[in-house]
Amino acid sequence: MLSLPTKEASLPRVPRLVGSLPGPRAQALIARDEAVTSPSYTRGYPLVAARGEGCMLEDVDGNVFLDLTAGIAVTATGHAHPVVVRAIQEQAANLLHMSGTDFYYEPMAELAEALCERAPFPAAAGRPRARVFFSNSGAEANEGALKLARYYTGRQQVVAFLGAFHGRTYGAMSLTGSRAVQRQGFGPLVPGISHISYGTHASLDYLEDKLFPAVLPPEEIAAIVVEPIQGEGGYIVPEDGFHERIRQICTRHGILMVVDEVQAGMGRTGKLFAIEHWGVQPDIVTLAKGIASGLPLGAILSRPEIMTWPAGSHATTFGGNPVACAAANATLKLLEAGLIENAERMGRVLQAGLGQLADRFSLVSASRGKGLMVAVDLFDAAGNLDRERRDKIVDLAFYRGLLLLGCGKAAIRFCPPLVIDADQIRVALDILRQIFEEQ
Ligand SMILES: Cc1ncc(COP(=O)(O)O)c(C=O)c1O
Repeated sequence: MLSLPTKEASLPRVPRLVGSLPGPRAQALIARDEAVTSPSYTRGYPLVAARGEGCMLEDVDGNVFLDLTAGIAVTATGHAHPVVVRAIQEQAANLLHMSGTDFYYEPMAELAEALCERAPFPAAAGRPRARVFFSNSGAEANEGALKLARYYTGRQQVVAFLGAFHGRTYGAMSLTGSRAVQRQGFGPLVPGISHISYGTHASLDYLEDKLFPAVLPPEEIAAIVVEPIQGEGGYIVPEDGFHERIRQICTRHGILMVVDEVQAGMGRTGKLFAIEHWGVQPDIVTLAKGIASGLPLGAILSRPEIMTWPAGSHATTFGGNPVACAAANATLKLLEAGLIENAERMGRVLQAGLGQLADRFSLVSASRGKGLMVAVDLFDAAGNLDRERRDKIVDLAFYRGLLLLGCGKAAIRFCPPLVIDADQIRVALDILRQIFEEQ
């Protein structure tokens, strides 16, 4: 066991570095970890997290960081929000597990009811808007959505997008079109999945005008699986009308529109479901990451007439665990009590500040995104995307107490907890400005 720094009542609201990084406890832990954990993990800088509070993270040596990663867009309500922690503690003291696959308990029904009331599907009098299946992760939610789409339509083909990330299990990995290393050596993958470019009308023209008539009859397509804003691919916001057109194509050919809201959902973009920005009603939605503020939980929401698979056809021991559901119920209340609105407002503050940096420094692009799902690209001196420079800047930020993550080819993503305030955004922008000045 590591002896941790003495716990203060609360962490400072700005970075506080007490020694050189990584400190001695961090170094010791990293050495232990790296000797025994999978080399497939992609750790960048040497952060060893010990304690979190809101947007602040303390490492094992007492250094405090401003966290604009939220543990890869997960801790929506901030680290260890007291309301979420209390809900978890109370639920844990009552019932840790009973398997929603075979038995009933209230936190799971309560969460399913809440998600059904809010699902971005058509309302119908006298019946819920949706049905919900609970999983443990985003990959597992997408895996189930793929199965459901094939089962319901009786069709096998699926269209997904280059740059998309949907997870690491076989179905989700086969939908993923992000980086070759994620697929290389793992074949054969799930057959029947075709990838086209993301976000442009030209790509949908290619689907309709070239693929449909020649190699991919639309009558054989079960689903088009799409991220509302492409996440790991670079926080790419599609062209206007892109999602609307996918909806039209799906409706015309009896194809299901499956929207992966694992990263963009749960309020991050300033709306509970990111697809609501386009007023499009999909057929199936997948959720995970922010849904339970850090406890592992995923969900498949579908229009009720689609989720008709019979008892035993799809299930999981842990999905919809009562503690995870209690955390999600508390999370949803906090999101709707102001955090979704804060994401929208703080997203504007962040994008305005990033805009000023882009005006001043040619190495950084204008920002893109919605709410607190925002990214900028980094360029070399000739104006080409520069992955190395991006990695270097993310690293330098860590050594100044700011936690960032990359995405896409050369982008820095900003996906902080939704509790972030304008002062913290200013601190983050100031650190970035100093780093850019030194380039
Ligand atoms: C859009 C999207 N879908 C699915 C996943 C996979 O989720 P998980 O890592 O929980 O399996 C991710 C993870 O980054 C994601 O961004």
